[in-house]
Amino acid sequence: MTHTAPLIDPFARAISYLRVSVTDRCDFRCVYCMAENMTFLPKADLLSLEELDRVCSAFVRMGVEKLRITGGEPLVRKGIMTFFRAMQRHLNSGALKELTLTTNGSQLGKYASELAECGVRRINVSLDTLDPQKFADITRWGRLPQVLEGIAAAKAAGLRVKINAVALRGFNEAEQFSLTEWCARHDHDLTWIEVMPMGDLGNEDRLDQYWSLKDLRARYAERFTLTDLAERSGGPARYVRIEETGQKIGFITPLTHNFCESCNRVRLTCTGELYMCLGQEDMADLRAPLRAEASDTALEQAIRNAIARKPKGHDFDYSRSGVVGQMTRHMSHTGG
Ligand code: 5AD
Ligand code: SF4
Repeated sequence: MTHTAPLIDPFARAISYLRVSVTDRCDFRCVYCMAENMTFLPKADLLSLEELDRVCSAFVRMGVEKLRITGGEPLVRKGIMTFFRAMQRHLNSGALKELTLTTNGSQLGKYASELAECGVRRINVSLDTLDPQKFADITRWGRLPQVLEGIAAAKAAGLRVKINAVALRGFNEAEQFSLTEWCARHDHDLTWIEVMPMGDLGNEDRLDQYWSLKDLRARYAERFTLTDLAERSGGPARYVRIEETGQKIGFITPLTHNFCESCNRVRLTCTGELYMCLGQEDMADLRAPLRAEASDTALEQAIRNAIARKPKGHDFDYSRSGVVGQMTRHMSHTGG
């Protein structure tokens, strides 16, 4: 594969990380993510598996080294293993350094070993609670035992598992230490995510559920010795080590601005819209250039034009008077 000039945005940030949503569908209906009765996109609007291959390969040619597959739930997309198999050639060539996914874990029992065969080494599994009833409440359609079996299958297949837990006041506050201890016991990494003002608030007022990670961190500090770690992923995650257990705990506070200057990522939706920033409405349609011609010339130009207008930062802000800069699209649309 011939490489072309790398993608550098107007603020001298190299774009090396692409997150791709391969479906808007999910077998769960998490209350902070989806409405109970969602209308999903017609199939013709979605990028085909071949189009996903073309667009991801174009990004890899332009210097993307890390690919994260998301959704919705990526593993409910029909034929998705064909896509993972296809991406393996970029791992084999050395152009792609990491192929990974974010999943709710429900299909891992079925796919974990195949994912490992495709060169996936690490996965993120979303899990907010270890209480079966609470799990059913928050995911509406999910069942905890199936997810725990999926996680076990991933471990057995040699995949490294990171648990992502959305911090929700009054919901999983009481589980901070039991979840942490469970992760230590099973050797899973753990990252807490601050709840984001995505989609319509509906009946669940997300400001009520907002649990500051500052508070969460302070509670760890009451019980343990914490060491701040310098490592950065180019994203919003910050890490600490719990000295007593050796565990590394991540904190993702998407509402703070402290990571925009090192942002290395863009997001592609399942319909081929490229979002240059999670917190901005601006996007570029890549589906039209993909479908306009069999060659990738127009596609590559559209990608370069889009990166040339990647904004400096986002507009999220929780203020006392309400939510400012609230995004109207759901996480299942932009893919977390
Ligand atoms: N705030 C924070 N995280 C969210 N996710 C989905 N919706 C939200 C939200 N409103 C997370 C899921 C999962 C990933 C796909 O995005 O919990 O970890
Ligand atoms: Fe599905 Fe993840 Fe959204 Fe839950 S948060 S509904 S598992 S996409």
